Amino acid sequence: MNTDTLSLLIQKAAEARTKSYAPYSDFSVGAALLTADGSIFTGANIESATHTPTVCAERVAFFSAIHAGHRDFTAIAIVGGSNQRPVDTFCPPCGVCLQVMSEFCKGDFSVILTDGKSRRVLALDELLPHRFSLGV
Ligand code: THU
Repeated sequence: MNTDTLSLLIQKAAEARTKSYAPYSDFSVGAALLTADGSIFTGANIESATHTPTVCAERVAFFSAIHAGHRDFTAIAIVGGSNQRPVDTFCPPCGVCLQVMSEFCKGDFSVILTDGKSRRVLALDELLPHRFSLGV
């Protein structure tokens, strides 16, 4: 993936983060998902007073893209952190989101992270090796 695409995805994830609804954790996350045909779907975390309905930014982006008819994905950028300060740590996806990614993506799917200064690009296989699958 070229650096322009990386930068665009990070920028879109940062923009999406501004739409987060996170009054309980005060931790906002944005995600930008690139499909194989070049479309970008974004998401932000949406929390609930009863906690368990909370949905992560990554799943909002995935479910939006899937519902729009997409099944092939290339990369996702994730920008997240406390609302008390500028983003200064990497925000890797949680285990639930990794399992959702592995439902639709191959091991070489790229997960792009930033701490506001530098970037990391990790393969889904690195983040979730030996993942569960029904082999369908
Ligand atoms: N969260 C995400 O949206 N994505 C992640 O990768 C990790 C955590 C959200 C869930 C919850 O609203 C808040 O961040 C704190 O856990």
